[in-house]
Amino acid sequence: MKIHHIGYAVHNIDKSLKEFKKMGYEEEGELIKDEKRNVLIKFIKNNSYRIELIAPYNKTSPIDSVLKKMGPTLYHICYEVDDIDFEIERLREEKWVVIQKPLYAPALGSKCAFLYNKEIGVVEFVKSKH
Ligand code: NI
Repeated sequence: MKIHHIGYAVHNIDKSLKEFKKMGYEEEGELIKDEKRNVLIKFIKNNSYRIELIAPYNKTSPIDSVLKKMGPTLYHICYEVDDIDFEIERLREEKWVVIQKPLYAPALGSKCAFLYNKEIGVVEFVKSKH
């Protein structure tokens, strides 16, 4: 599986973007408000590396508790798969826990899912668009 992006939990999209730009990252697309997850999302890119900046826009955001506990931090790695329903079911049978079933994510323009494995933590999967 190819890595699609690395997710970072941040307090502020603009301020963190300013710092990533110092490492050669450029903006990719618009700022997205994901109403379902109560988060603001911005993708940035540095050659083949893509980072997803995720910030809360209110206190009920799941990312708010991550930030309170850890501060700004690497949050998840997202892998690209062709058949997301098949892969999620396959990993579920391997005792991975489904945190979020495959669901359309406006920021990705595709379905994504979150799984948890007790040995490696949270992993995101996105259905590839090609
Ligand atoms: Ni992500």
